[in-house]
Amino acid sequence: MKEMWAVVKKEPVKGATLSKVAVPCPGAGEVLVKVKAAALCGTDLHVYQWNSWAKQAGVKTPMIMGHEFSGEVVEVGEGVSTVKRGDYVVGETHIPCGTCYQCKNGLQHICGNMVIYGVNTDGCFAEYAKIPEICAKKIPESISPEVGAILEPLGTSLRSCLELQVGGENVVVIGAGPIGLLAVASAKALGAAYITAVDVLPQRLEKALEMGADHVCNPQKEKVAEDIMKITKGVGADSIIDASGNTAAIREGFRYLRKGGQAALIGLPSNLMEIDLGPDVIFKEATIKGIHGRKMFETWTRMENMLENEVLKVREVITHIISLADFAEGFNLIENGEACKVILIPEG
Ligand SMILES: NC(=O)c1ccc[n+]([C@@H]2O[C@H](COP(=O)([O-])OP(=O)(O)OC[C@H]3O[C@@H](n4cnc5c(N)ncnc54)[C@H](O)[C@@H]3O)[C@@H](O)[C@H]2O)c1
Ligand SMILES: [Zn+2]
Ligand SMILES: [Zn+2]
Repeated sequence: MKEMWAVVKKEPVKGATLSKVAVPCPGAGEVLVKVKAAALCGTDLHVYQWNSWAKQAGVKTPMIMGHEFSGEVVEVGEGVSTVKRGDYVVGETHIPCGTCYQCKNGLQHICGNMVIYGVNTDGCFAEYAKIPEICAKKIPESISPEVGAILEPLGTSLRSCLELQVGGENVVVIGAGPIGLLAVASAKALGAAYITAVDVLPQRLEKALEMGADHVCNPQKEKVAEDIMKITKGVGADSIIDASGNTAAIREGFRYLRKGGQAALIGLPSNLMEIDLGPDVIFKEATIKGIHGRKMFETWTRMENMLENEVLKVREVITHIISLADFAEGFNLIENGEACKVILIPEG
């Protein structure tokens, strides 16, 4: 039996180990990919820490961690027809059932029986990854493996800006972690007129400026609402995109959102939040759009077009490229806020 190195979550406790495991064998409708690059995400950190979110997310140990990756197809299972050996692919993490109401009505990215790759299945922090054919998304060779590995989170951020149609708008991105930073870059690429990024960490705000923000604001030092009202000459922001999941920041966002404005919510709050529906939504006629991942595959097509033609630039969000074996160091880097995107490269 062929073996490979993989980052394995062996027990439902904090941590993970680099272990030798069997290379998976693709069954019918499945594809085996040789991983070129994988990316660490906040979700992986939750699983690694084994916090309250991880405990309720349906993670079954032992499991191979990771869900964001790019690589080359090396083997296909029976019946696979849309990808072949040698194809350059990245993984879509939403595994649709193909038969439910949503799947049959153009909403397979929010399938009613959705399984999340690398959370509810074995993942990609390994030399090889097995994925369902539908989730093996072919991408142009001009996109580097490192950038390929972050297309999954980028697609979520880009989609929020596509849905809100931010061209010519005054946009506020709340939270400048990887998702927020990628939203800043997306808003810039789509022609937003003025982008403000809000975060409590100075290093993240610096990165936001690097990625296209026109202005940054730290709620621990400044009054965000006052700042936004001044920038928008008393009108309020056209669009807000939350990528913080911080309920106080979201509530404040609805206050400086202009009448008739739009809000895209990506960040996942860990507790319930109150919102004053009358003034902040109803009388304002605010539109609220929840965003869960990428449209399959409309968002991917737009993203590839924009990356291939260098309209969208996201390389700066990658702050560290390390070996797969050094995954624990990668988790430390994101845990203490030092890193934005950390890429893991399997050896050999
Ligand atoms: N809906 C989806 O499909 C989807 C996909 C991926 C991630 N997410 C969620 O999106 C969020 C962002 O993901 P990430 O990987 O960038 O996480 P992250 O934790 O790196 O980023 C969150 C950022 O928000 C900042 N923040 C905290 N409090 C704040 C406040 N009061 N005001 C402004 N900013 C504040 C943090 O400093 C941090 O930089 C998370 O909640 C994640 O779970 C959702
Ligand atoms: Zn992710
Ligand atoms: Zn379905």
